Amino acid sequence: MTDHLTTRLAASGRSPKALAAKDFPIRRFYVKHEENECVEIARLTSMPSYRRLGELPPKRHIQMRREQNSFLGENIYYEHVVTTQGFDRAYSILYHLRPPTRILKTEAAGHVPLRKLEERELRHHHIKTQKLPRRGDPILGRVPMMFNDDLVAWRAKPAEQQTELYRNGAADEVIFIHQGSGYLETTFGKLPYRRGDYVVVPRTTTFRIVADDIAREDHLILETFSQVRIPARYQNPDGQMYLGVPYYERDFHSPSELITIDREEPTTTLIKNREQLTRVTMPHHPFDVVGWDGFLYPFTFNAWDFEPLTGTVHLPPPFQQTFDCRGFVICTFAPRHLDHHPQAIKVPYVHSNVEADEVLFYVDGEFGSRRGVELGSMTLHPGGIPHGPHPGTIVKSMSMDRTEEMAVMFDTDRRLHLTIDAMELDDPNYPDSWLENPNPPPTGQFSG
Ligand SMILES: [Fe+2]
Repeated sequence: MTDHLTTRLAASGRSPKALAAKDFPIRRFYVKHEENECVEIARLTSMPSYRRLGELPPKRHIQMRREQNSFLGENIYYEHVVTTQGFDRAYSILYHLRPPTRILKTEAAGHVPLRKLEERELRHHHIKTQKLPRRGDPILGRVPMMFNDDLVAWRAKPAEQQTELYRNGAADEVIFIHQGSGYLETTFGKLPYRRGDYVVVPRTTTFRIVADDIAREDHLILETFSQVRIPARYQNPDGQMYLGVPYYERDFHSPSELITIDREEPTTTLIKNREQLTRVTMPHHPFDVVGWDGFLYPFTFNAWDFEPLTGTVHLPPPFQQTFDCRGFVICTFAPRHLDHHPQAIKVPYVHSNVEADEVLFYVDGEFGSRRGVELGSMTLHPGGIPHGPHPGTIVKSMSMDRTEEMAVMFDTDRRLHLTIDAMELDDPNYPDSWLENPNPPPTGQFSG
């Protein structure tokens, strides 16, 4: 994913933001690379399209009148602009019954430390996260598995419903629903979720997860310190998804109905900022929004809605890319027809991902065939050590036409550090699993 344009831009000392604002004040970003030549920066990305819900005044930043039972008798709703990247990128505007700035008290609520494993050697890892016992609620029950400066990957198998409101003040959250269903109560309204959903929650969004059956919930959470965006190459210059890319606007689901609570009653929200936890109590319920619009909101995208592309011969993982974040990408390996050249090798070729650490999370399908990998397993293949099909699987997969496997992958630019919690679930024999075996698994693995 090397971005030559960004490299050339950095070498020239020119800022893409300044150029965009000066020369192209539209939501797509361009660089004046050479005289009379404009080139789009490949890695600059976009958000899902504009959405609106509820009541809005006809223009932004003007009075929105409320005639009855208004706060302090002021007869207005209170505008709240949520912005990203300063004031330069996607934003939304919400209208509250009461000012969202009212705070009764703040209290330190401890820390969630990441216990870094001091690794003795570089090697492949298989982390059997399905063995995690249920614990806590969907927020405080999370167990960190690996991290770097751009993200923290957690697993959660909660034992009890979330009772306290929560928001992440420093990171967006991608909550992948491995198992479970329910809805999120959020400032932006009610957002239903189901198995296979990526639930993407922008930072500062207050929410509570309400599971249909907490005993079935099983999540992979990517806490990302940049915005979660759609790859720019998926959207045309008009801001619409190109024909032929693996999803469409209709596959993205935003809150379906508002939750407007008009209640003067102390309400506490747990706020996470990196490792620090704080409890903030407002004198009223923060879910008091009567309308919002913009490009920034929580949404779901279901992995089974990903429309995978298949080639004559094997297509590399960028064809499976789903989201783009600073320092890593998220890919979806959805059920698909396999490559159709008469002599195609159907499993991925051996590869050295020399500039990336590669993590696969196994969601559905016949992964049991891959040397002990089970549903809910995570594998980490670090840059520097090649990985690929297990012995015997290249030949055994040649007659296959289709795979029903579902996997989520994240590929990071910077090295990932494992936690001690992850190491307690690590299979120490996994690095040996590429040695010849007299009983190879019946098929190969088609993701990663
Ligand atoms: Fe790979």
